[in-house]
Amino acid sequence: IMPFLKTRHLQTTASGRKAPPLAFVFDIDGVLIRGAQVLPEAKKALNILAGENPFRTKIPFLLLTNGGGVSEEARCKSLSAKLGVEVLLSTSQYIQSHTILKKHARRFADEPILVLGGELDTVRRVAEGYGFKRVYTTLDVLAWNPSTWPFHQLTEAEKESTKAADFSKLPISAVFVFHDPRNWALDVQILSDILQSGGIIGGPWVPVEKQQKLVELTFCNPDLLWGSDFPRPRIGQGGFKEAFQAVFKAITGKQYPYVQYGKPTKATYDFTKEVLEQRFNEEYGSSSKPSSLYMIGDNPESDIAGANAAQWNSVLVKTGVYNPEQGPPAHAPTHTANDVLEAVQWAVEREY
Ligand code: G3P
Ligand code: MG
Repeated sequence: IMPFLKTRHLQTTASGRKAPPLAFVFDIDGVLIRGAQVLPEAKKALNILAGENPFRTKIPFLLLTNGGGVSEEARCKSLSAKLGVEVLLSTSQYIQSHTILKKHARRFADEPILVLGGELDTVRRVAEGYGFKRVYTTLDVLAWNPSTWPFHQLTEAEKESTKAADFSKLPISAVFVFHDPRNWALDVQILSDILQSGGIIGGPWVPVEKQQKLVELTFCNPDLLWGSDFPRPRIGQGGFKEAFQAVFKAITGKQYPYVQYGKPTKATYDFTKEVLEQRFNEEYGSSSKPSSLYMIGDNPESDIAGANAAQWNSVLVKTGVYNPEQGPPAHAPTHTANDVLEAVQWAVEREY
């Protein structure tokens, strides 16, 4: 028998459309996929949101990951293929660690910036796609002067990825760590050069407190650990930050001031809520907002901590970083579920 359709739970928006009372934000690694593997429950969970639910309507959702390193378009295309669901492109349904940097592109449009992370110069192209016009990589620096880091010879592929520049005359204004650096040693060295000399590589080292204008340093993903398809968590961009700051402090006596984006930072959760409400408006007409937001994640330190601080409902799943055998999570979720399908079913029943 058709379950009695309690339409009272549907919000009638100004446009007369029936909106469900909830929306979801999904973490990716450890919730929907593990490395290259799609978790079997992921597709079933997304089908519930596509309409197979008692509300008989689509339930809006976003993907929010501390991952990145490629353009939003490229990642959405590969995720849609993997998940077998049309995840609409870029910011309409997908936010990755560095998407928020689009807000800074105008301010640094004509300034030389250094970007870290990702393969070869993929992140340069992502930054240019955001509107940054003078984007450099640490491989460009090594190509300019091999003695900046004598322990690595550029491979052919790395050489082809570089852009010519004379860094003795090119003051770097800001450094954005988009994704996980591949050559930590090279990146720590170049970052240390830039931040000690106010932007000119090879310039005189000036104590940070005596520098006129500090080079801005921004990290996009604080994850110390994350869930890949290896049975134990992997070290994330947060590990690179710890390594860099430890070396910088050993040299200068102090850590370098920086901006942090990514889950669980408030900036990233505020940005996500903005995007989700914009999406809800597109779907159901303006001024409607989901009365309940559910974040489903595998990492207590990022997904659950951020959702709790943003006063969303948080559901912790056991398919990623969180391992119940190691005791209770550092941040208590609203609910714990075995996997993403159980998490979605629990939230939908709770709101119905
Ligand atoms: O670098 C990827 C990792 O830090 C976490 O990704 O999707 O679990 O936020 P996610
Ligand atoms: Mg995760």
